[in-house]
Amino acid sequence: MKNKVLKVLLSSLTIGLLLLVSACGTSEKTTSGTNEKPASGSGDNSHKKLRIVTDANYAPMESLDGDKIVGFDVDILDAVMKAAGYDYELVNIGWDPIFVEIPGKTADAAISSITINEKRIKIYDFSIPYFESINKILVPNDSPIQSGADLKGKTVAVQNGTTGQEIAEKILGKDPQHIKKFESNVLAIMELTKGGADAVVADNAVVEEYAKNNPNKNLKVITDTSFPSEFYGIMLPKGSKLKANIDNAIKKIIDDGTYTKIYKDNFGTEPNIDVLKKQF
Ligand code: ARG
Repeated sequence: MKNKVLKVLLSSLTIGLLLLVSACGTSEKTTSGTNEKPASGSGDNSHKKLRIVTDANYAPMESLDGDKIVGFDVDILDAVMKAAGYDYELVNIGWDPIFVEIPGKTADAAISSITINEKRIKIYDFSIPYFESINKILVPNDSPIQSGADLKGKTVAVQNGTTGQEIAEKILGKDPQHIKKFESNVLAIMELTKGGADAVVADNAVVEEYAKNNPNKNLKVITDTSFPSEFYGIMLPKGSKLKANIDNAIKKIIDDGTYTKIYKDNFGTEPNIDVLKKQF
């Protein structure tokens, strides 16, 4: 009696094992089949999905529409990735983490209105520039502030680790009492609108968009022509093999009119292509 039960148990165990082995065999085949996807001929990394990171708190450049990341940078990235033949995913990780993931190489690239400057090119690689920008000052309509120099003695809100912070520090010194640093530019603007700061210094496209879209907040934008002109680039880990292909793709979308179309769709005006091309 006992023997019979044991036999039945053993034989069903054997069948189970056989099924398991054959199942593994099949799944192994399928996996290696998908891995053999032909490289698209664009060079390194074309076989894998690139992880591209951003801080989607910077409308109209990159922001969230529900859970979708939208904006000028997002459209440019998509065109560049298509031209370069790369598969990618864009992930919203916030600003400060970008400067951890890129040197740590857990991300392949970052697009986030990132200014190419002396300090950063020592640590990261950048694509050729794809956008010209300048910092401007966002203040209440009735503010006496008319220039950068007028920020002296005032309280300025900035996004931490941005060129806006650098400019504010040049004028005010690294005074933590007068320079309030926030994790996102949205929070810096909130500080201004609730009266905790006299001004925000941030990129022109962003402060202009905010003032225009929020007329009830009664804000105006001040231009100081002594603030330096800046250029955005796609940030890459030092020595990234993607750089050559990405640079070529940027040139390609500029030359074939894709860039102009994206620019017009986003800003409603013509881009100044010559100013970009001079930087190449
Ligand atoms: N252009 C400035 C910089 O590179 C600010 C960029 C902030 N970008 C953002 N997505 N929050 O420092």
